[in-house]
Amino acid sequence: MQRTAAQLNTPYFMIDESKLICNLEKAKKLKEISGVKLVLALKCFSTFGTFATIKPYLDGTTSSGPYEVKLGYETFGGETHAYSVGYSKDDIEDVKYMADKIIFNSLSQLDAHFDTCQQYASLGLRINPERSHAGQDLADPARPYSRLGVKASLLELSITDKVEGFMFHMNCENKDVDAFIAILDHISTTFSSYLDKLKWLSLGGGIFFTYPNYPLEKLALALKSFAQKHQLQLYLEPGEAIITRTTDLVVSVIDIVDNEKKIAIVDSATEAHRLDTLIYNEPASIKEASEKGKYPYVIASCSCLAGDQFCEAQFDRPLQIGQKLHLLDSAGYTMVKLNWFNGLKMPSIYFKRIDGSIETLNTFSYQDFKATLGKVE
Ligand SMILES: Cc1ncc(COP(=O)(O)O)c(C=O)c1O
Repeated sequence: MQRTAAQLNTPYFMIDESKLICNLEKAKKLKEISGVKLVLALKCFSTFGTFATIKPYLDGTTSSGPYEVKLGYETFGGETHAYSVGYSKDDIEDVKYMADKIIFNSLSQLDAHFDTCQQYASLGLRINPERSHAGQDLADPARPYSRLGVKASLLELSITDKVEGFMFHMNCENKDVDAFIAILDHISTTFSSYLDKLKWLSLGGGIFFTYPNYPLEKLALALKSFAQKHQLQLYLEPGEAIITRTTDLVVSVIDIVDNEKKIAIVDSATEAHRLDTLIYNEPASIKEASEKGKYPYVIASCSCLAGDQFCEAQFDRPLQIGQKLHLLDSAGYTMVKLNWFNGLKMPSIYFKRIDGSIETLNTFSYQDFKATLGKVE
């Protein structure tokens, strides 16, 4: 007999395959029109139990640290791109056997590792275009004193003897295609002498091409003409765009307390299970909430941190202890940042397949918690 969601213990993540495929179909269209290759940014989403669904649509993975390279290589395949803000000699010894492309963050990193890896992979360099489209300073790669990428003023044309590609990443949740095209034009003009000598160029992630009503075709045509102009294979490194609006974090109301406001405490915490709610001060949205509801609550966490809350929301009826709530859009930069703070129970991970069946990708136990703190005999 098939299991239903009502039978599952909270907290858990539920990834919806049909919603994932909706995003992936848009990615496919973008590739078909533009000729770009797409590599999944594992920093955003690494839940490898879903990769069999994603693989047919994308070209490979990109990474931000040595273990992500290995995960992409082992579980996804296709092209494995390796980038890190800083590789040690040991990191490079592992990475060079797995990566098709290794992208360095600075001229000094390129110099340090060039001899070790040039015969293994196509090498690239991250460039800082000093332009960006990012809502928050914390996530803005072009912020003052940024360490992310090399500025044009430090480059010499001879760099193209050492690298075959450049990587620019300067967008964060950019829904404005014209703003993106303006940056693309800036790159085309500022770096044209380099671009014409390169084989490939990655324009990073942060382009929200799966957002409802995003002018996908306009983006695709701009990328196509850029690639033709500079005779380059273009890549994008989407993370959020691939998994946006696919996943709920499902929690239960454990207690309701009163302190001038009604406060519903749930069996999860932003600090442990939805960190970006805290870091970027972006409240969660709740499926069961209703804008005009007459019953307002703070949806608060089970952690000890005084300010740890998911959001404030109104409901049509008073919340009940034991009631489940669905925190929407909880996959990106969430499942990759889970931690065991306070010894809270780790959310299980489920995958709702197209046929409606629910696959368990993993559940976690006390032993998993203990193993993060020391050797478990
Ligand atoms: C270098 C690089 N590539 C790709 C991404 C993925 O961005 P997004 O998930 O917004 O598409 C990021 C995000 O920080 C990044 O730093």
